[in-house]
Amino acid sequence: MNGLKTPVNTGREREREFEFGDEDFRSLRDLVREKTGITLSEAKRELVYGRLSRRLRVLNLGSFREYRQLLASDQGKDEIGDFINAVTTNLTSFFRENHHFDYLRDAFLAPIVAAGARGQRIRIWSAGCSSGEEPYSIAMTIAENLPDWQRMDIKILATDLDTEMVERGQNGVYREDRVAGIGAKRLSTWFREVPGAGARHYKVVPELASLITFRRLNLMEPLPFKGPLDVIFCRNVIIYFDKETQRELFLRVAPLQRPGALLFLGHSESLFKVSEAFSLIGKTIYRRVAG
Ligand SMILES: C[S@@+](CC[C@H](N)C(=O)[O-])C[C@H]1O[C@@H](n2cnc3c(N)ncnc32)[C@H](O)[C@@H]1O
Repeated sequence: MNGLKTPVNTGREREREFEFGDEDFRSLRDLVREKTGITLSEAKRELVYGRLSRRLRVLNLGSFREYRQLLASDQGKDEIGDFINAVTTNLTSFFRENHHFDYLRDAFLAPIVAAGARGQRIRIWSAGCSSGEEPYSIAMTIAENLPDWQRMDIKILATDLDTEMVERGQNGVYREDRVAGIGAKRLSTWFREVPGAGARHYKVVPELASLITFRRLNLMEPLPFKGPLDVIFCRNVIIYFDKETQRELFLRVAPLQRPGALLFLGHSESLFKVSEAFSLIGKTIYRRVAG
């Protein structure tokens, strides 16, 4: 014997602060799927470890087994929200996939202006709105292109599963690097600098914010409104769901829209073999069809 213990774990396991075995990953992955519809592949193993390790530290737990036991127990009910918040991917930006906002302006807003419509009702849903950049981009597009926007009946509903994101959207405060890409004109029109030390922060002006209602909503649960919705942005959300979950979601989404209404998906998403209630009319742009 040379006194050295034979390592029982792989190199990666030894570097880890907490042991994270197959059973830990599988059972947490199943719970994520059950609660959110999000399907985590094997490739997301490290990501899950990294994000949930933080929860273990906050809760002062010594192992993933203890964390799983907590989630399964009655006391674990309070942790489910933080667990969900930890596993969602919230990447977003103002005017992300800018061609959608051009299309909204040209194909949806311009005809309203051309028709001289007043008092028109407009309902838009940003489903999976993350920290609010998407609904605020919709609101800016409306306010910049509908001269009568403040006298019209316009409502943007912005929903997300992640409670921290909903809160951030509601606050409407963004660090300077988040608003850097929108241009000086938009920044001075729609934001006010928030006084304070450190990095500059900007808050959305109340007139614009008043167009939007932020709510927590899990797309896996019954949708608590009937529509009709003129436009739905559901971008970079369904990419995390499997096909069956996508199909089931659009069976519930389709009745919220009348024929002709618009639906925008994210750049790598499609309704091919998911729903026949929409037809593709542009790059990831759909219109509700009859039936
Ligand atoms: C990558 S972000 C996309 C944000 C924005 N739509 C965009 O394209 O920039 C995806 C968002 O979907 C939300 N999400 C994931 N699963 C959800 C579910 N089951 N119900 C509601 N929102 C969900 C996440 O919390 C996250 O904020």
